[in-house]
Amino acid sequence: MWKPAQRIKFHPATGRVPTREEAARSRLFSRLRAGPLHLQQRTWVPAMVPWRSNEEGEATVDVLQWYERFARGRPGALVIEATGIRDVPSGPLLRISHDRYVDGLSALVDTIRRASDGHTQVFIQIIDFLNIRRRPEAEKYFQRFLRVTPRHRALLGAADWSEDAVRAHLAGLPPAAQQAILDAREWEALQFGARERVTDTDLPHIRELPQTLPGLFSAAAARARAAGFDGVELHYAHAYTMASFLSATNTRDDGYGGERANRVRLPLEVYAAVRKAVGRDFVVGCRYLAEECIDGGNQVDDAAWFGVEFARAGMDFISTSRGGKFDDAKQPGIGSSAYPYTGRSGYECMPQYLSDEFGPFGRNIAPTATIRRAIHAAGFTTPVVCTGGVHNFDMAEAMLVREECDIVGTARQSLADPDWALKTSLGLGREVRLCEYTNYCEGLDQKHKQVTCQLWDRSELEEPAVRLASDGKRRLVAPPWSATTADLPAVAPSATRA
Ligand SMILES: Cc1cc2nc3c(=O)[nH]c(=O)nc-3n(C[C@H](O)[C@H](O)[C@H](O)COP(=O)(O)O)c2cc1C
Ligand code: SF4
Repeated sequence: MWKPAQRIKFHPATGRVPTREEAARSRLFSRLRAGPLHLQQRTWVPAMVPWRSNEEGEATVDVLQWYERFARGRPGALVIEATGIRDVPSGPLLRISHDRYVDGLSALVDTIRRASDGHTQVFIQIIDFLNIRRRPEAEKYFQRFLRVTPRHRALLGAADWSEDAVRAHLAGLPPAAQQAILDAREWEALQFGARERVTDTDLPHIRELPQTLPGLFSAAAARARAAGFDGVELHYAHAYTMASFLSATNTRDDGYGGERANRVRLPLEVYAAVRKAVGRDFVVGCRYLAEECIDGGNQVDDAAWFGVEFARAGMDFISTSRGGKFDDAKQPGIGSSAYPYTGRSGYECMPQYLSDEFGPFGRNIAPTATIRRAIHAAGFTTPVVCTGGVHNFDMAEAMLVREECDIVGTARQSLADPDWALKTSLGLGREVRLCEYTNYCEGLDQKHKQVTCQLWDRSELEEPAVRLASDGKRRLVAPPWSATTADLPAVAPSATRA
């Protein structure tokens, strides 16, 4: 992963540990009620893909156990990982692309409700992404993948050569000469693997995305409702289709690119279709980028403008992330795909402990606060979730008190210790296992290996019934932590949708 040149080491701290009474009076552990969003506390576990599904995209036992473990910590909300809406093979990515997935996802919802004792609202993040190929071997690329065009022939002076001769000649050229003959996309396909973009409107399936995506997203959301989820999070962030429509790099000329109003058009049409499918009493929000963190990408003023439009349209929450783009991703090894968290924008998305002067903690707070202010200035009160490097009570509480956001997301801190908020609420904050922001977990994600945390994955392996990763060396969920039942807050029925 890219790291800032400064490489200053940062260490997370527990901060001030509130007593149980202080915690009970805090903003973090106060309720939030906004439309169908009913949070018992303002803690939120954002989507994290743990690679626990199978090639069929099902909610396996490992998927259930993974989320059960988070639910035991009773966060205000738990967002299930990015889940595919197209019924096509997608590797071990969880899917919600057909009615056959509803029963499995329903079991997942039941598991979470039981484990959190009804304290946690359960959402699922639904995603569309475009095709990306692995980086090819150069020889194969020239033999099989490159489409030989008149342009290549003209540049080579090879008008009457056979196609095989053109391919063989190109393959034998030094890289600089190859680059001079190939166009930018062909060179990218050779160096990184071919990657579709929303601007490839010469391809019918890309041109027709504005016609196909509202139906795909709304059908997936209807399944989420049927499975018993409390809501859906539309994935409008990072490197994926909807974020690419919002991006300042979207130059489509069919009314869905160019100016902001055109770029937000499909995200709003998708939202409208989803809302129509699920009704008003089901939570629908989106996750999008406060800043794209790439050259020529969206800045916070774009994101503030989009935030107001999402609020005006009636979304129930807005959750921010940052960066995570393909545009500046590092070159993958041959046979691997580009990963959108390897460049500077990837660092901004999941910053690790080696950082610049600002450090890895709270890089998204200021832009998120700008977005929230714009939403309020426009007369809306849509709750805003801010995530990024938050790991202790003090930090989370300050974000809420300063009204920089309404809900605090903790991804890696929740992975490091799924009980961190529960322990804190009970006055036991000293027992929290702090995330060290090493990005060991993110490294596993990059290789599509089962994600675990280095702080617990080798602990208590001898425990009965412990399930191990496919390498046989790591436990798949954090060891149990138990507060006595008397310690736990009472069940709050409003957390569960009828
Ligand atoms: C293993 C892993 C998987 C992730 N998967 C997703 C995902 O499916 N959808 C998403 O929006 N963000 C995903 N993220 C990003 C996190 O939700 C979060 O925005 C990021 O880790 C920064 O927050 P943190 O500092 O609290 O970890 C993932 C992060 C990690 C570490
Ligand atoms: S492996 Fe654990 S400690 Fe390291 S960044 Fe991930 S969650 Fe934090």
